Amino acid sequence: MKTWGCQMNVYDSERMSGLLKPLGYEVTETPADADLVILNTCHIREKAAEKVYSEIGRLREVKAGGATIAVAGCVAQAEGAEMQARAPEIDFVIGPQSYHKLPEIVARSARESGETLFTDFAVEEKFDRLAEPREPGGPSAFVTVQEGCDKFCTFCVVPYTRGVEVSRSADAITLEVRQLAQVGVREVTLLGQNVNAWHGAAPVGASAENWGLGELCRHLAQIDGIERIRFTTSHPRDMDDGLIEAFGEEPKLMPYLHLPVQSGSDRILRAMNRGHTAESYLRQIEKVRQARPDIAISGDMIVGFPGEDEAAFEETMQLTREVDYASCFSFKYSRRPGTPGATMAKQVAEEVKSERLQRLQALLNEQRAAFDEAQVGKVLPVLLEKPGRQHGQVIGKSPYLQSVFLEADASRIGEIVDVRIEGRGVNSLRGVLG
Ligand code: 5AD
Ligand code: SF4
Repeated sequence: MKTWGCQMNVYDSERMSGLLKPLGYEVTETPADADLVILNTCHIREKAAEKVYSEIGRLREVKAGGATIAVAGCVAQAEGAEMQARAPEIDFVIGPQSYHKLPEIVARSARESGETLFTDFAVEEKFDRLAEPREPGGPSAFVTVQEGCDKFCTFCVVPYTRGVEVSRSADAITLEVRQLAQVGVREVTLLGQNVNAWHGAAPVGASAENWGLGELCRHLAQIDGIERIRFTTSHPRDMDDGLIEAFGEEPKLMPYLHLPVQSGSDRILRAMNRGHTAESYLRQIEKVRQARPDIAISGDMIVGFPGEDEAAFEETMQLTREVDYASCFSFKYSRRPGTPGATMAKQVAEEVKSERLQRLQALLNEQRAAFDEAQVGKVLPVLLEKPGRQHGQVIGKSPYLQSVFLEADASRIGEIVDVRIEGRGVNSLRGVLG
């Protein structure tokens, strides 16, 4: 199983492995040991499909040894038929909406049946069929609550690869989280491409009829054993007051919000079809900080979208300074065939994009370092997640999603312990049990 891209893909890979377990399959460390290779691909930026072709090239020997090769994920969804035509090594292609069919496909050997392209959309069915109990790898687990997007940002392929927005029912989510809690999960991260667009009918007996993500988080917080709740990725347009209030009132909702803005220029935001302004975004951040003063803000930025001039880029820098991110991803705009951005006038030269990205990342690195530095000397509750590389070392997570390295007995993995933070590395904190 090889996975590219976002956490949704990581989660899907975990689910696909789980679905194949009853058939006797186990995840292997190297492709050489595999009978079945699943490439779970990402389509978000350029060269994604190219990477898959080079991976398939590297798998030639494995294939010659009799392994089956499957392409899954968003490249499969977007370019499945082209991929099959170009790379005959591929035995079957399966899109994200068809993963529940995987055991059936594998069991009856796709080649023999002649059907090798599984990219139909029927999300409800997928959600229904993925409800089997899971075996998560540690005390923290992902749970998909929403999939797809119909916002159609002009740079983005997701609405085409993952389809329209669909929310999973509160009952199904509750059941899955309960099962996870029973097998030792302490923290759940609710996943969705537009996770805060989640909405659903409340379970029978609840006070309101329709729930948003805030109500769902509060509800899940009541499940025995669940100590931490997170969600990702949000859209500023769906950041309603109910959710913001939950940050202030539900202590199990962790003080970390990933709220991408993409640009600080209103002109570019309009061209991106974002449906919000720089000002409205800043006001939301302000509100969230009022509700939960210690919240860590994270985001995504794109530099070099068509029409971005130096002044527009400077507005992105300015907004970044105002928000003061705890961490933020930043990307050069990548033309995705089929999206409106790809054919817009005033595409930005590659060198200009690179130079702007460097300037933005220098600022973001400074902000990240300052945020990490501010934790040094504090005592933070840390969820111990897994053993570290060194003997006696354990790696945990701070409330702000920072990795924390400390000395502790591995038997304590799964506990939330107080840790005195003593120092920081490039992307992590160091501490002692306090
Ligand atoms: N080019 C560059 N970055 C992109 N993203 C999405 N589409 C593109 C693209 N065409 C970024 C956005 C999004 C994140 C998941 O990837 O910042 O929030
Ligand atoms: Fe890639 Fe987006 Fe698909 Fe995730 S949802 S795999 S980031 S294209």
